Amino acid sequence: MVASASDMVDSLGRGVNSLGRWIDARFPLGKLIREHATEYYASKNFNFWYGFGVLATVVLVLQIVTGIALTMNYKPSAAEAFASVEYIMRDVEWGWLIRYLHSTGASAFFIVVYLHIFRGLMYGSYKKPRELVWICGMFIYVCLMAEAFFGYLLPWGNMSYWGAQVIVSLFGAVPVVGEALAEWIRGDFYISDITLNRFFAFHVIAVPLMLVFLVVVHIMALHEVGSGNPDGIEIKDYKDDSGKPVDGVAFHPYHTSKDLVIITVFLIVFAFVVFFVPDMGGLFLEHANFEPANVLQTPEHIAPVWYFTPFYAILRAVPYKLLGVILMGLAVLLPFFLPWLDRCPVKSIRYRGWIFKLALAGFAVSFLVLGYLGLQPVSDTYTLLCRLFAIPYFGFFLLMPLYTSWEKPRQVPERVR
Ligand code: HEM
Repeated sequence: MVASASDMVDSLGRGVNSLGRWIDARFPLGKLIREHATEYYASKNFNFWYGFGVLATVVLVLQIVTGIALTMNYKPSAAEAFASVEYIMRDVEWGWLIRYLHSTGASAFFIVVYLHIFRGLMYGSYKKPRELVWICGMFIYVCLMAEAFFGYLLPWGNMSYWGAQVIVSLFGAVPVVGEALAEWIRGDFYISDITLNRFFAFHVIAVPLMLVFLVVVHIMALHEVGSGNPDGIEIKDYKDDSGKPVDGVAFHPYHTSKDLVIITVFLIVFAFVVFFVPDMGGLFLEHANFEPANVLQTPEHIAPVWYFTPFYAILRAVPYKLLGVILMGLAVLLPFFLPWLDRCPVKSIRYRGWIFKLALAGFAVSFLVLGYLGLQPVSDTYTLLCRLFAIPYFGFFLLMPLYTSWEKPRQVPERVR
């Protein structure tokens, strides 16, 4: 007798169920799936801003997978690195695609993470009870910067070389121990084969391990307190008789199905960039990096990749190297303290006063303009503009305790809209 299709599906279902029971008796897989997906309740009013966390996870996986593939043909030595990247681009089957996925992925990572952070600023995601989720996110961001910096040296292009030279020499500004510190980081008196080797070790294993660990902690901390939402209302405060939040829906299948749409749109845009404009006119892959590192000749104009340029602009705005380095460090450090700088009891921008909206807009504009200025060659006008636009950047954080206690927020509704 021939088994019907539905019989086959039934027996497959029974097989999967009994495998699930077998695993559950030995490992809490079912419990994990229930706690983090099918019985994890998140607000039903998420908008697209709540999709960037998932996109960051997708890009993280993409970077790890394509990174492993690149490592199979890349040679971490000053003599061979540049040629091995050319070999990947020209001779390795699909090598060009793997490399462009990885290089575009680096920029996509920062775009997605910057939008994810901006969502946090708009909806007060850093406020109680999500302070640890936020701080963990900031550590992820710092690790991401380290990951991108180490990775940028690996192709051993001329901008890789001189970019690393500029950044490592910043440590030389530290009083007394500065020069020794820079030498210790390089492992040599200048950026050399030794430096390339250690940056490779950090880029392919040390920092990715930290990143993955931090992302797991980030999501565990989030699921402990529950996700926020665009209204800034805690859905856990309104539960039905069975203990489920009335304004929440199960993460799987309700949010996962929406996330799938967001991921699809993202991948279409991402693929367009990979296939048609992988260097993004010199923004994602800088032109000077198509030439091998040359110890005797700097590129015409040294600038880091776009995602670092707001901080680079702050560094260049100050005539004293040490002060510039301190201010640049402060620019990265200040967001860590947001949960305590913001004194307004209301989370979401929907119900906050005009002062906060103005300060946030000023911050966003200053970040973008500083990013643009950091890409430009040094000139007196640009330096002046860098100083001017650094004011709303720092003002947003440093004056926050003041203006958030003056602001008059609107009444927040009891239930999500
Ligand atoms: C590799 C980088 C990152 C990954 C993979 C990641 C992943 C996620 C995911 C999946 C969520 C839940 C979905 C969502 O709300 O979007 C989330 C929420 C959150 N993330 Fe991240 N994240 C990353 C970086 C960051 C950074 C840099 C920050 C900020 C400093 C941050 C702050 C937050 C906050 C505050 C929430 C909770 C939002 C809320 O529920 O209101 N994350 N993250």
